[in-house]
Amino acid sequence: MIVTIDGVAASGKSSVSGGVARALGVPYVSSGLLYRAATLLGLEARLDLHDAPAVLAHLQGHPLRLEPLAGGNRIWQGDRELTGELHSTRVDAGVSVVAALPEVRAWVDAQLRALPAPFVAEGRDMGTAVFPHAGAKFYLTASPRIRAQRRAQERPEDVPAIEAALVRRDELDRVQSAPAPDAVVIDTGPLTLDGVIQTILAQLPA
Ligand code: C5P
Repeated sequence: MIVTIDGVAASGKSSVSGGVARALGVPYVSSGLLYRAATLLGLEARLDLHDAPAVLAHLQGHPLRLEPLAGGNRIWQGDRELTGELHSTRVDAGVSVVAALPEVRAWVDAQLRALPAPFVAEGRDMGTAVFPHAGAKFYLTASPRIRAQRRAQERPEDVPAIEAALVRRDELDRVQSAPAPDAVVIDTGPLTLDGVIQTILAQLPA
């Protein structure tokens, strides 16, 4: 079975997906890491991130490999691990431009659909565009302030700056970020990480 966990930026998707995957004994798959890695490669090659043919050609010439480990996804380009470089402010600021390119979305979707189930898939459109027949679908939300406060524990920036960037990214990602009509929407604001994981596990089909 495939379980999809979508949601807005910094809603806790990766931590929640990892926890659910570990409880189920399956891998989890972070689609956002593929978009982030495509962005990093584009920035490093000084490409115009709006230039779909250039971004796609560069990706095809520098294939990425996603390791969907339950303990944390890792991503490689050849022998170079990119994982640690993908959550910078620079990648955050460019990723929505790259993710808006239909050619890049098709490339990411093909990588994801090639993975052997079962797994937990995490992103924006896992339950809508990529795995519409998933066995269970969830969508995580939280207020921008709460998400910014959580993110501030991981970034050397203050809460208002992070909040403004999150709101901007939500707006840029709005097209691909609608919850599936059959997704269970969970407001993670009042819940702990374990509370969200248990809420999801309790709603999975037997
Ligand atoms: O999930 P994360 O915040 O790491 O995703 C980074 C970016 O990748 C998002 O802001 C969005 O632009 C893009 N993304 C997407 N569709 C997905 C996953 C991520 O457009 N399924």
